[in-house]
Amino acid sequence: MATETEIIDLQKIRSDFPILSREVNGKPLVYFDNGASSQKPQQVIDVISHYYEYEHSNIHRGIHTLSQEATNAYEDARKTLQHFINAKHDHEVIFTAGTTGSINLVASSFGKKYLKEGDEIIISTMEHHSNIVPWQMICEEKGAILKVVPINDDGEFLMEEFNDLLSDKTKLVAVTHVSNTLGTINPVKEIIEKSHANGALVLIDGAQSIPHTKVDVQELDCDFYVFSGHKMCGPTGVGILYGKEDILNNLPPYQGGGDMIKTVTFEKTTYNSLPHKLEAGTPNIAGGIGLAAAAKYMNEIGIDKIEAYEHELLIYATQQIKQIDGVRIIGEAENKASVLSFLVDGTHPSDIGMIVDKLGVAIRTGHHCTEPLMDRFGIPGTARASFAFYNTIEEVDIFITALKRAIKMLL
Ligand SMILES: Cc1ncc(COP(=O)(O)O)c(C=O)c1O
Repeated sequence: MATETEIIDLQKIRSDFPILSREVNGKPLVYFDNGASSQKPQQVIDVISHYYEYEHSNIHRGIHTLSQEATNAYEDARKTLQHFINAKHDHEVIFTAGTTGSINLVASSFGKKYLKEGDEIIISTMEHHSNIVPWQMICEEKGAILKVVPINDDGEFLMEEFNDLLSDKTKLVAVTHVSNTLGTINPVKEIIEKSHANGALVLIDGAQSIPHTKVDVQELDCDFYVFSGHKMCGPTGVGILYGKEDILNNLPPYQGGGDMIKTVTFEKTTYNSLPHKLEAGTPNIAGGIGLAAAAKYMNEIGIDKIEAYEHELLIYATQQIKQIDGVRIIGEAENKASVLSFLVDGTHPSDIGMIVDKLGVAIRTGHHCTEPLMDRFGIPGTARASFAFYNTIEEVDIFITALKRAIKMLL
């Protein structure tokens, strides 16, 4: 196995994250809840502080210097994110509140204009509630039908069953790139090709892929790609909706308000061009700028290196956890990101989570906002360790020792 120093400069990286040197319950923090939210490097924290200390003003409206500086910083951030995902145009990058905000925007705007009774939307069994509920809501409103692609016992998307579900009624396919609960990396390119061949648009939920793998929206040829800033070392409350220019141009506005208009009279309003048409009101300016700083930070390390290193962590942790009696891994897809969900016979995940927390180890327990997926496996929830590039092999050892201790206490 390659050692961590061969792939990335771990010591330098860890020193960038102030929170990693704190203690929790008197023990050094081992943060394995990166699937829920990642930690922030000083470089991102500094950019946000600098913005509030020296540049803050409202954007797109003022002629004064500060407003112009803030506008430039925000629009530069959009360009950085455009390059980060290789979008063709910067106006294809829409700032939202996050993955949830982006999916709700598409479900509402696309659904209002294009969905009619009897139309179908396809999702998969492993979707996060954010990629289920907005579709249920619009389907209910429009009399459309939500179809669900099943998965196998390893947690893999079943392509043949997907083919069978695709029909001329399918208007849109919305699937996650990486499952937050199972770690499964879905064959999204193939899903996109098949959907397009069938005349359906595709939305990819990139919440769990963007922090770990290089995403090229032009290469994927997806119609929408959505993600959150806070899972990729950026701030909370900001995220991205990428959409192809012509598709976004044809979507009706999602919310009305300032910035999204061209002209307003009491009789009629005309709408602004992209991206502003889909960004009503004062946005999360500091958030957008902070998110761009996070993208730059990750690029400087190298997304390929991040992916390779996290894979080593996953392999090592999987090998170690498999040696513990009574452990069952939920999600053993061949193609997997750095998420390790598990159960231990005779114990409850939340008891495990509470005990390892006392030993300084932060993991997630519960249904991970994927209740239908839990139903598929016939379980109420799992314990989940999810790794980031700033985690170490030594931390995996600490986690495994803590887990063994928890099991001993509980059984
Ligand atoms: C796969 C997936 N989709 C969507 C979301 C929702 O992201 P947010 O809460 O940042 O909007 C998450 C968050 O965990 C996720 O893992």
